[in-house]
Amino acid sequence: DASDIEKGTYPHYMLKEIDEQPAVMRKIIQAYQNEQGDLTIDDDIIEALRAADRLYIIASGTSYHAGLVGKQLIEKMAEIPVEVHLGSEFAYNPPLLSERPLFIFISQSGETADSRAVLVKLKEWNYPSLTITNVPGSTLSREADYTLLLHAGPEIAVASTKAYTAQLAVLSIISYVVAQNKQIHHRFDLVQELGIVATAMEALCDAKEEFEKITIEFLATTRNCFFIGRGLDYFVCLEGALKLKEISYIQAEGFAGGELKHGTIALIEEGTPVIAIDTQRNVSGNIRGNVKEVAARGANTCLIAMEGNHNSEDRYVLPEVHEWLTPFISVLPLQLIAYYASLHRGCDIDKPRNLAKSVTVE
Ligand code: G6P
Repeated sequence: DASDIEKGTYPHYMLKEIDEQPAVMRKIIQAYQNEQGDLTIDDDIIEALRAADRLYIIASGTSYHAGLVGKQLIEKMAEIPVEVHLGSEFAYNPPLLSERPLFIFISQSGETADSRAVLVKLKEWNYPSLTITNVPGSTLSREADYTLLLHAGPEIAVASTKAYTAQLAVLSIISYVVAQNKQIHHRFDLVQELGIVATAMEALCDAKEEFEKITIEFLATTRNCFFIGRGLDYFVCLEGALKLKEISYIQAEGFAGGELKHGTIALIEEGTPVIAIDTQRNVSGNIRGNVKEVAARGANTCLIAMEGNHNSEDRYVLPEVHEWLTPFISVLPLQLIAYYASLHRGCDIDKPRNLAKSVTVE
């Protein structure tokens, strides 16, 4: 569809793609629903997932970050152990494998050479593989045994946004469908929960001005920035830091809140921006403790918290979604902050220096 690859009234593809996320959520729900309205994937894929004693997710960049969240979703919902590996590492230093592994390639483009190098090896070893990609007919899709599509529409901006949340959605659907197939019953309806996610995403897209203000307040002149979180929030922090690095060239790192004291806290100076995510109820007190530790050393702290964890110190309150699905929405503020940081620094948002949309050489 030609309209998909036009910017329309948007100044940048990245902003358009951020805004498309609620619609992509709804499209994915539809694409994976059967006539009865139940979520479903091909029986062959369910069987392959159930036959495996361990899943190995292989990916790079933003897709790797989606894989880290995917591991949590699959382990929590479907109760299958999962490892997540960078393609470029696995290809030359594979771990000891389980007896019946299944490989899951996560790749927006389906063309990433680092992942392909792994797939080529697997085929020699005769292990089954599933590719989750946005591009039907892409190399990783053609060469793997099975494919699941993201249905995110073309992603043009080099910095990946809607493909990340689409990857999370497809990973949640796999987890849920396999759980049901294994008779593991969870007390929520994923169709309904993904609908709530889409609505929450809309609210965040409507709050752009607020994120532009936060960006100016915290990142106007800084040369570095830290993102901290625990549990699922930690993985979102890795993605938030990658987005900021990619397009604004601000040196950024995502850290697990509890690990700060083991080294990184040495970098905190007067005015260092620290953006903290607090969506996970069981570690809310812990991450707030970490925020106090860095604030006491002069950090300029920005707390983004889920409604249920909210208190008066928070700079932004996220609408409530299911506790396992928080990365779907907590990433949006970080995407928007990266966007506005890049915009205010006059960087090339859609085509950052030194980066390519898909890296087809190792
Ligand atoms: C490149 C892009 C990243 C992307 C990564 C993996 O480095 O610049 O945005 O996350 O490749 O791409 P893939 O298409 O495999 O998801």
